[in-house]
Amino acid sequence: MITSTQLDGVALVVGSGRGIGREAAFSLAEAGAAVVVFADMNETTAKESSEESKKYASNKDYKTTTFVMNVQDGESVQAMVDFVVKEFSRLDYAVNAAGSYRQVDNGVHAPIAETDIDNFDRIMNINARGNLLCVRAQVAAMRKQTPKTWSSRNGTRDIGRGVIINLASANSFVGLPGKGSYTISKHAFMAITKMAGIDHAADGIRVNAICPTWVRTPLLDVELEKNPEVQEMISAIVPIKRAAECEEVSDTIAFLCSPAASYINGASLLVDAAVTTTVRLF
Ligand SMILES: NC(=O)c1ccc[n+]([C@@H]2O[C@H](COP(=O)([O-])OP(=O)(O)OC[C@H]3O[C@@H](n4cnc5c(N)ncnc54)[C@H](O)[C@@H]3O)[C@@H](O)[C@H]2O)c1
Repeated sequence: MITSTQLDGVALVVGSGRGIGREAAFSLAEAGAAVVVFADMNETTAKESSEESKKYASNKDYKTTTFVMNVQDGESVQAMVDFVVKEFSRLDYAVNAAGSYRQVDNGVHAPIAETDIDNFDRIMNINARGNLLCVRAQVAAMRKQTPKTWSSRNGTRDIGRGVIINLASANSFVGLPGKGSYTISKHAFMAITKMAGIDHAADGIRVNAICPTWVRTPLLDVELEKNPEVQEMISAIVPIKRAAECEEVSDTIAFLCSPAASYINGASLLVDAAVTTTVRLF
């Protein structure tokens, strides 16, 4: 086992009531986080997920709790971060996973010439502004805390004050025809990641994005059941011919939080089985 993939700090996962955020929180607990705070707009699912995380936690002193918030409300975002720092003294790992393509995009399919500006504002408000509010509050808290070090066979190195992982998308790299607003919002989220990584590297804060394509969340499972054509499309487009399991994304998030990734900053990691590097000619 590579011990540098172990975690031991305080984690906050925004959007952890369901889907990738929920699995990310479980992976962090499994990797050794001492605390995982489940933040979500849905109190019921956040509580259920927080309770379930106790089954997977490997830290003997593991603690978990929930916080109800909405990324569209700056005050609730700030209150969430203040709560974590007040209750647990620091914030080591923050994951921003609120909202999903299926939830945020309302099915509008239009070329740029026909962009519905109200719809654009709504999507940007969650994916760009909402996530910026989260990153801003998290960075501001992390920069005040003492940095940590990691000791390995080659000595001791500085691993900084905190780590932030943003759930961007393969759409942060490439466009989805007719989905301009969503694509623009995910490009913005990648830009937020890069800028926070650049501006706060000297504070010892690493900020990275995970960029998946199709991930087998409960919402995708419902869609696959209702419409077999979605599986056919995934088989045609994804070289591995299946959607990613949630864990294939969430374990990567835990890795990026760990000392093993202490030199990875400002990066946007594609977890897409080469979808975006493939040009399909037939
Ligand atoms: N699932 C995929 O195939 C996929 C692919 C690429 C990128 N992503 C990205 O991963 C992230 C998570 O997606 P998912 O599929 O797990 O979503 P999901 O819909 O399954 O879960 C999203 C969670 O966020 C919460 N949430 C939604 N809006 C919120 C708000 N305004 N404030 C606070 N909480 C809110 C929901 O209550 C829910 O618990 C999203 O940013 C999504 O764009 C997902």
